[in-house]
Amino acid sequence: MVNTKTPRRMRNIIIGLVVVIVLAVVGGVIGYLVTRNKKTSHNGITIDPNLHQSFWGINYTPLKSQYPGCGSKQQDITDDIKVLSQLTSRLRLYGMDCNQADYTLQAIQDLKVNMQVILTIWVDGNQTTYQRQYDQFFSVLQRFGPNQIYGVSVGNEAFFRKEISHQQLYSRISDVRQKIQGLGYHIPVTTSDLGSNYTPELIGQVDFSMANVHPYFAGTLVKDAANWTFSYFQENIARQSVAAGKDAIISEVGWATQGDPDQGAVASVPNLQTFLDTFLCQANQQKVKYFWFEAMDEPWKTQQFTLLEGNWGLLTTDRKPKATIPNCQAS
Ligand SMILES: *[C@@H]1O[C@H](CO)[C@@H](O)[C@H](O)[C@H]1NC(C)=O
Ligand SMILES: *[C@@H]1O[C@H](CO)[C@@H](O)[C@H](O)[C@H]1NC(C)=O
Repeated sequence: MVNTKTPRRMRNIIIGLVVVIVLAVVGGVIGYLVTRNKKTSHNGITIDPNLHQSFWGINYTPLKSQYPGCGSKQQDITDDIKVLSQLTSRLRLYGMDCNQADYTLQAIQDLKVNMQVILTIWVDGNQTTYQRQYDQFFSVLQRFGPNQIYGVSVGNEAFFRKEISHQQLYSRISDVRQKIQGLGYHIPVTTSDLGSNYTPELIGQVDFSMANVHPYFAGTLVKDAANWTFSYFQENIARQSVAAGKDAIISEVGWATQGDPDQGAVASVPNLQTFLDTFLCQANQQKVKYFWFEAMDEPWKTQQFTLLEGNWGLLTTDRKPKATIPNCQAS
């Protein structure tokens, strides 16, 4: 009796154990499959496993931030920053209008993300525009302090558009620098313009160089674009800047996905993918500093200029990546 009972109990225990193990394995597999595609939350940010902090910096123009037709709200920009903070730790804005800088810095603060921005006091031919943006910059600086501000750019491509004389821009740069110092802050002051406008004279006026280097407008084939960018930047901007003891940053580099071709350069999503794949990780490895052009498509530019101008977004206007984001941590 004893002998027959014990094996049966043993058998039941073994069967019980096997069932428990099988259930645990099945549960684990189901759990893995369920959570694999489920996004985890952090600071109210939905983590997207397809996004990586592989960009040294990204150019960001919020939708509806063109004066006087301002329409963007704090929540729109906060939602943008939730996505952009998973791609980079630096943003560059193009102007102060429509509270775009206030909302961006507020979002960074609210989301507690580690990000810095380059702010731009937009320069065109109009003194009213400049004064409005200048006043807004100093109001933002007083409100948020300097810690999240990587630098300030007095204008973008203002020489290229021939909207200001060299002497006038130099005196604005020096005025902004003096006023910042007068407030007791240290924020480097610069301007961005085409690489071909980045002369040694201009380098002498800025605290660091910031040139827009576009293989697309050089008409390169996409397969040559990364190499062209590195060579052009090194030969024409970085070397002269380093010789003058100044840092150099590519303020714009990217690839369009729609619009007219420029010689060998063809706008398309596959070509954006190729340029991302050939430029990004190599730039990070070589410690080249750059702001990708740009975060999102800008429909107002398609309306006002061309289809090509409006379609440089890494993301669509509803914040979806157009291409696969390479995975290589930027510094
Ligand atoms: C300058 O801009 C202001 C508004 O920003 C506008 O009212 C004014 O007409 C502009 N001046 C010129 C000369 O375009
Ligand atoms: C990159 O460009 C340089 C100079 O233009 C050229 O000598 C070199 O062969 C190019 N490399 C590749 C991989 O295309």
